[in-house]
Amino acid sequence: MNGIRAPDGWSIVWLPEVDSTNDYLRRGSHPPGTVVVAERQTSGRGRRDNRWHSVEGESLTFSVLVRPEVQIALWSRLSLAAGLAASECLETMGYEVGIKWPNDLWIRGRKVAGILVESSDAGAVVGIGMNLTNRRLDPELEATSLLLEDGRDWEAGEVLELLLPRLAAWSSRIGADFEELIDGVRRRCVLSGRRVRLQTSRGGMEGQVIGIGARGELRIETPEGVESVIQAEQVRLL
Ligand code: BTN
Repeated sequence: MNGIRAPDGWSIVWLPEVDSTNDYLRRGSHPPGTVVVAERQTSGRGRRDNRWHSVEGESLTFSVLVRPEVQIALWSRLSLAAGLAASECLETMGYEVGIKWPNDLWIRGRKVAGILVESSDAGAVVGIGMNLTNRRLDPELEATSLLLEDGRDWEAGEVLELLLPRLAAWSSRIGADFEELIDGVRRRCVLSGRRVRLQTSRGGMEGQVIGIGARGELRIETPEGVESVIQAEQVRLL
């Protein structure tokens, strides 16, 4: 799987096994642009303290350490940047992808990839897990893999080579020139016009999604009026 080209200023470390690629980058002192790819994660993590299960040889699991040159308050936009980068990557591979705000990637209503952005002393760690050749997935997860979608057998390295340049490009555009990124997310957002139930730090909320605002927030029509949500712990389609 080795030997793929990294974007300028980025370098790739391949590990046969690690607990979690996000944890690996948060622990050590690595330069920004370090990408760590694992053949196997023993404690892969998802959002909201969930576990991220992946089977060796069937998934792409990697993280990159970035240090955007914009104020830290804007770094949360990295999750939208990573979602858009991964969507574009999958589209060039021939898949029709939707973004379930903020950054789950869906194919035909099932999750194919997830993103976990976390802060570290050295910057922000953007972790991406994508189901490539899984034949069996826990039905409770309502997930899919690229193989299950169209029978094609992708290798992690070839997908990574398509994804990294897009990730490098979009993660450098979370500051003043954020508009194009947001437009890309909007065009793919599977929640627009749908009724949802959200769990936020301020409690639960139900309503119809109007769309995504200029700061990347989800705008929802609720019985109490239009709400803007920057971060949600859970988003459920009703
Ligand atoms: C989610 O959908 O809940 C996010 C899943 C993120 C999984 C990836 S796999 C690579 C990186 N390392 C981890 O432990 N998690 C992320």
